[in-house]
Amino acid sequence: MLSVSTIADVRTHVARWHEQKQRVVFVPTMGNLHAGHVSLIEAARQHGDRFVASIFVNPMQFGPNEDFAHYPRTPAQDAKMLEDAGCDLMFMPDVGEIYPNGAAQATRIEVPGISNILCGEFRPGHFEGVATVVAKLFHIVDPDVAIFGEKDFQQLTVIRRMVADLCLRVEIVGAPTVRESDGLAMSSRNQYLSTEERKLAPAIHRQLSQAVAALKAGERDFGKIEGMGRAALDGAGFRTDYFSVRDARSLAPARPDTRQFVVLTASRLGKARLIDNIQFSAG
Ligand code: PAJ
Repeated sequence: MLSVSTIADVRTHVARWHEQKQRVVFVPTMGNLHAGHVSLIEAARQHGDRFVASIFVNPMQFGPNEDFAHYPRTPAQDAKMLEDAGCDLMFMPDVGEIYPNGAAQATRIEVPGISNILCGEFRPGHFEGVATVVAKLFHIVDPDVAIFGEKDFQQLTVIRRMVADLCLRVEIVGAPTVRESDGLAMSSRNQYLSTEERKLAPAIHRQLSQAVAALKAGERDFGKIEGMGRAALDGAGFRTDYFSVRDARSLAPARPDTRQFVVLTASRLGKARLIDNIQFSAG
């Protein structure tokens, strides 16, 4: 595996692959890799010939009181996991390479509407930071395909909208959420949980599953489903930001005629803010 930290080096290698008519697949990450990230590299195999992963903890997507400084950074372990997964090129830039004029005053990409609901309501500016860094990474890597996890469902929706609005040539592919055996979605932020909190955490997936079971059984009182999910989590010791039944394509609130559902939640437990979702098609 090639390991580079400059934009120029990424471009040299990718240009060579494009000249050889090889399809380049890109997996952006913030590092501290786990099996969920590795599954994205494995999914990438079905979409191309060369695999590029980036590891960059993006300051622009963290709020002033969020965990940017403490976000776990494990570069040596990440490099080994990417190499074992068959990645061809790892791009690990420093902040100055990505934000030559600093992140605070940098040119930004705003995807209006869907960036300000759900997580965007509780993390102002977060999706602007995500869209901006992903657009920059797409310009640097120039991939044919990029893979994103459905675990971050709103992020995937924002990226798809950005790619369409900016007429980017990259194809966006979503990959399923990888879970621990008790249902908890894998996340770097699970490390913030104490032993006791870790035992409670699978309640998130359980409540999402119960909401989907209710939808499958024909329940269409979405307020009732949302209220039950939130009450169960808060009753178990979480502080829930939202528990919401949405249209999976637009992220608008579900309506009686909605067919493609996604139930999403963000809930705080101790120091961690955990997000998860389940999609469901009513046919
Ligand atoms: P990060 O949280 O490191 O996630 C990188 C990619 O891995 C994202 O596409 C995310 O959805 C996916 N992922 C994380 N946990 C997963 C799981 N349990 N199962 C499947 N996929 C999973 O998301 C980001 O980084 C950043 O916002 C980024 C897109 C890199 C922009 O900075």
